Amino acid sequence: MPFGAIVHRFETVASTNDEARALALAGAGHGTAVLAREQTLGRGTKGRAWHSPAGLGLYASFILRGPEGGAVPSVHLVPLAAGLAASDAILETAGLETRLKWPNDILCRGKKLGGILSEGVGAGAAGGFVVVGIGLNVGAGADDLPPDLRATATSLRLAGGRDTTVEALWAALCRTLERWYNVLARGDKEAVVGTFASRSAIPVGTAVRIETAGGVFEADYRGLDPEGRLVVSRRGAGPVVLDAVLRLERAS
Ligand code: BTN
Repeated sequence: MPFGAIVHRFETVASTNDEARALALAGAGHGTAVLAREQTLGRGTKGRAWHSPAGLGLYASFILRGPEGGAVPSVHLVPLAAGLAASDAILETAGLETRLKWPNDILCRGKKLGGILSEGVGAGAAGGFVVVGIGLNVGAGADDLPPDLRATATSLRLAGGRDTTVEALWAALCRTLERWYNVLARGDKEAVVGTFASRSAIPVGTAVRIETAGGVFEADYRGLDPEGRLVVSRRGAGPVVLDAVLRLERAS
């Protein structure tokens, strides 16, 4: 079924991810989508809220299942594939180049334009699924952004994108997400990881601050390994692959 062929549209919803999860648990199929004009409890990563004012952004979630009822392919790469899809859709519709900050952030001119919230339920096994939620700031002006985010967030409008609509962006996103999901489904992890790396907001060699459950440390960013995991090197040491990173930032 093409992505977005079945869309549950809402004027207002708590969170499209929560709606999509409920639909998936009730048996909704691969590619089913939820799209809302407004979210009252939009969720970001790490338990943060996602500000979702009516009509000013794209707030959507897709249900992803594996081919023939099997496991979702390369489930750990879904956020990266979704970031690529969002960045393609933005270029197609608004004509803006975006950068991707591993693993969930979509940036434009150094500010956050959107994010991905990917949540799996038994996704590594047959019958499981992933809900991939995508939030993009579209028509927000500076006053529409929460004061504490004004210095670090942007929208297509604020970034000077070509005039576009949430609907046009939505139509493009359905196509681009389907395309990147199919890349994963045919096992071409290299295309996802390589393209993500080529759009990275953080150049290789940049000093970064990493937060893990074990604490915070500084290192040099070395890129991604073939599985899309973060590779860094601590001063004077060789590259290491990190498994459970809570936060990645440029070191100031
Ligand atoms: C992030 O913190 O960067 C991820 C933000 C993800 C927001 C989107 S909006 C649609 C979907 N529904 C939610 O509640 N969150 C995601």
